[in-house]
Formats: sequence, C-alpha cells, structure tokens
Amino acid sequence: MFEPHGGKLIDRIISHAEGDDLKKRAHSLPSLTLNARETSDLRMISIGAFSPIEGFMNSADYRGVVERAALANGLPWTIPVTLSTDKATADHLKPGAEVALKTQEGAILGSLTVEDKFGYDKAKEAQNIFRTTDEAHPGVAVVMKQGEVLLGGKVKAFAQQPLPVYADSDRTPAQTRALFKEQGWNTVVGFQTRNPIHRAHEYIMKCALELVDGLMVHPLVGETKAGDTDAEVRMRCYHALLGKYYPATRTLLSTFPASMRYAGPKEAIFHAICRKNYGCTNFIVGRDHAGVGTYYGSYDAQKIFGEFDAAAIGIRPMFFENSFFCKACGNMGTAKTCPHLETDRINLSGTKVREMLAAGQRPPSEFTRAEVADILIEAAKAAPVKSG
Ligand code: ADX
Repeated sequence: MFEPHGGKLIDRIISHAEGDDLKKRAHSLPSLTLNARETSDLRMISIGAFSPIEGFMNSADYRGVVERAALANGLPWTIPVTLSTDKATADHLKPGAEVALKTQEGAILGSLTVEDKFGYDKAKEAQNIFRTTDEAHPGVAVVMKQGEVLLGGKVKAFAQQPLPVYADSDRTPAQTRALFKEQGWNTVVGFQTRNPIHRAHEYIMKCALELVDGLMVHPLVGETKAGDTDAEVRMRCYHALLGKYYPATRTLLSTFPASMRYAGPKEAIFHAICRKNYGCTNFIVGRDHAGVGTYYGSYDAQKIFGEFDAAAIGIRPMFFENSFFCKACGNMGTAKTCPHLETDRINLSGTKVREMLAAGQRPPSEFTRAEVADILIEAAKAAPVKSG
C-alpha cells in the first residue's frame, strides 16, 4: 500500500472537547455559510481524503495549482480546493481570525482559522483547470458564481453523518486502509463513478481485478450536475449488481463524498491522488473520465498522466479504451481486442439510454443488466430526470 499523498494521512476531525468548546463560542464568531461543494470539500479535508491539504487553499497553494498543477511544496495537485466570499465579508476578517463554518440551515460544520485572503482570476482558473471559460460547462459555472475573494486557512470539522442509504458504505481513508490490510489485499484498484454501472464499467473493473488483489468500487456521492442519476438511486443499483455479479471476498463498495468538478483530465489526476489516500495502489481511467459534453478528447484524461512524474503521483493508473459488447465476438471488448465492425457493437449514447429508461424500456442486457435497468426504470417513473 502506498503512503498517503505527502506521506501522512490528515485528520482534521474535531475532538469532543474542541467541539463542545466551538459550539459554546460559535455565536460570538463571524460565520460563513458553505455551499454544497464547500461542505463536501470540508468533509474531504477533515477525513484525510485530500491529504496533505489541511484547509482551504492559501494563495501560494492556489496559484501553484492553477499555474503549475502543484501545491506550493511541489507535490502534484490539480484541482483548487477553495472557500470564497464577498469583498465586504472578507474586509471584516483579519488573518488569525476564527470563523464558524455553517450549513444553509445554520448548523455548525466546523471552523476555519483565516491564514490569508486574496483576489483571483476566475477566467484563468477556468481555462487552466477546465480548459474552457464557457459557462455552459457545469464546473466553470460554479467558479463563475463564487465570491470575489478566497479565504485560505486550516479547518477543523465535525464528522458529517452520511445519508442513511450510504451509511453502510461510508468509510474514511483510514478505515479503507485498515480494511484492505485486514483482507490481505496488497494491491487494490479504485473505481470512480458518478453513474449507474453499465456493462462497460463492469468489464473494465473486472479486467482490472484480474491483475490485482481487490477492487474498491468508489462511487462519488457528493454534488453532481442536473441530469446525472441521484446517488441514492445509484446506491441501490450498486448493491443489486455487486450482490449478484461481483466476488464478495474481493470487492468493497465504499462511497466517495466529493463533489464532481467535470474537469476531465485534471480531475482524473485528482481522483487518482484521492484514491491513493484511501489506500488504493491502482486507479481505473477509462474513456472520457470525469468529462462532460465535448470539452475533452476521449483519452485526454489518460494522456495527462504522462505530464507528471509517476513516482510523485504514486498510484498507478490502469487505462481502458472505449468498451462495448460485440455481437460477432459474443463478449465485451474494446477496439484493442475486437476486430469487428462498428455495426457489430452495441454502443448507446447516454441520451438514448435515458430516453429508453424514461419510456419504461430496458436497454439491451449487453449494455445494462436487467437488475440495474429495473431500478432505473422505477426511479424514472418516480422522478422524471431533468435534462441538464
Ligand atoms: S466519471 O465522470 O465518473 O468518470 P462514469 O461514471 O461514466 O463517469 O465513468 C466511470 C469510469 O468508467 C471512468 O474511468 C470512465 O472513463 C470509465 N468509462 C465509462 N464508460 C466507459 C466505456 N464505455 N468504456 C471505457 N471506459 C468507460
């Protein structure tokens, strides 16, 4: 198992005594209300999933990430982890100030000790991280809506409770590391997904599992864009599928409570580093990883690994080409392993699949297993998916 990124697993969960103290003092502290992404980032920092990051980025780390894809100490890092506010609020916060971090409903999530505050160039961040400034890109849209000033500094946070539907699968990096050890898995491949698991996902996961000791199916359950399947519905699909088609002794289903950025290549590096923190030795990067629309080439998220020092990334990527069922082969494959024509292959677009499910039709079982299709059809009936 690799060391966490930077060598040490960060733990910024507040102790009982500190928590009681913070609750007593909170009413006299300045406070900030966090949005969904900031709330999940706070959680990711506090459980060590973003090790070695201990708080929202200060200006040196932020500029390093935007300009050089590295923290100020030189470690690779590709996604800004920031807390924004408006200028008037920032003007009242001096370095050293303690700020209570709250939910929209006013519940205290934790605290930030302000280290610095700084203005930033949103268009530059968008271009360097997302490769576009187009506000139709869901990740760019979030950045453009942020406040004008970023607050950097270390945080402390209360342990956030998962929704009941994820409770069984909610584990910190320290817990997954301990579990892998207990299982005797020396090599573990992590699989990021924000979708129901279709046959292509299953195929690449199982190909990877042929080569390592264990598989961690690690669905992202933080904020996703409109149009993506709800995490709650996906969890039901994962349980149905894993219970029947995956070896229980070699597979772990665990949640990844991060928000999606849809930053394609930059997010693939970030996803890989986070999974190293969870104890994985390998990480799957398939076709258009963390992509959206046509902003990235199908394999940009694989190519970007070549721009980094493999030892500094640590975790080893496992690359897969576009996978499909081929009727002539009678099995799953990719252009690397299947010699047949496009017309022999079952390739459905996401839009087509959504249309079929909304109409109550199962996609072909070579594309989505019936157990998964039925859950998605039920969910589509209960809450028709908004396009986005
Ligand atoms: S992602 O935003 O989390 O990357 P998704 O859940 O669709 O989206 O993909 C999960 C992983 O499976 C990613 O590594 C992605 O590249 C890969 N993947 C998805 N579909 C295919 C496919 N048909 N062929 C190969 N890889 C795929």
